Amino acid sequence: MLRKKLAVLFAAAMVAATVAGCGGGDAQTAAPAADAAPAADTAAPAETAPAADAAPAADTAAPADASADGGLISVGYAQVGHESDWRTANTQNYQNTFTADNGYELQLVDCDNDNAAQLEAVRNFIGQELDYIVIAPIETAGWDTVLQEAQDAGIPVIIADREIDADASMYDAWVGTNTKNEGITAANWLAEYLDGKEANILVIEGTVGASATLGRTEGFNEVASSHSEWKILDSQSGDFTQAGGQEVMESFIKSYEGQFNVVVCQNDNEAYGAMDAMDAAGITYGVDGDVILISFDATHDGLQYTLDGKINCNVECNPIQADVVASVIQAMHSGSAYEATTLVNDEAFVAPGITSQYATTMTDEVLAGRAY
Ligand code: AHR
Repeated sequence: MLRKKLAVLFAAAMVAATVAGCGGGDAQTAAPAADAAPAADTAAPAETAPAADAAPAADTAAPADASADGGLISVGYAQVGHESDWRTANTQNYQNTFTADNGYELQLVDCDNDNAAQLEAVRNFIGQELDYIVIAPIETAGWDTVLQEAQDAGIPVIIADREIDADASMYDAWVGTNTKNEGITAANWLAEYLDGKEANILVIEGTVGASATLGRTEGFNEVASSHSEWKILDSQSGDFTQAGGQEVMESFIKSYEGQFNVVVCQNDNEAYGAMDAMDAAGITYGVDGDVILISFDATHDGLQYTLDGKINCNVECNPIQADVVASVIQAMHSGSAYEATTLVNDEAFVAPGITSQYATTMTDEVLAGRAY
């Protein structure tokens, strides 16, 4: 185990030289992603975020005999939970990638959005002396002690999907999306769409303390602060769930009925809940409605609603990340250089009839290409 860890550190040190200097200075967290994130005033993530294939492409498909000792590579994945369609797609992506045929033995733990359960899952992986640990952190905070325990045990850790606020020296690699840029894209699109008109905005945030929530909120608010004609009336957590989105929207309708014309949901499932609440209250939304609806994730159903004109703008958060994580593990395992930070590319989509410099207009073809 110690020999492997030394090889990993050596390889990371080599790559550090190749990635140094690509930082953009997003101060959201001290995770490597923050260093690699595009500058806050960039427009479309599709143009600014390094592509997922920045990771060593040749390593993406793991060989059957991937382990140095001829056995399967054991990987523990401490997954956030099953709160959203995005999460289900991400879980399936890991299960389809880290297969025995590809040379892996995957232990995937659904932590049900419970921080204590997630720490316990990671400690369990350490106790079993798995070869690699992948963590999709529920929250940014609280990781130092368990990461130290993994380091002491000589087990490389990859942080995936979301960010943490631990020092980057506490883990070995990071793979995920630039959620601050997602928020910026949503707000830039709104400014373009409204073209100077007033916005009275309600925000249904994601899970409290999650970097996806913090990043989208920070990015959106940064652009909003330069629009004096915009007012954010309220911002509450819907916990990235449909039930949470519906509950928050019902409460918003009681407090602000007739006062809002924009609803921002920080993921698709919250948007479905918000739509149910607005339907029940007789409030119209989408391209032909009174309320502009913005969502994040761009999962298949979310894009169907965008194609139908019910969601005006849907900013993607790409859940297909396992192949990049597998590339990193393959490189670590063979002692080769690997990317310490990999941003998975995102796009944005708008309903038919809308054209935007920030987003692609939805068509049947775009939807047909969206498997998750
Ligand atoms: O971290 C990614 C976010 O988590 C997705 O936007 C959301 O759907 C999921 O629950």
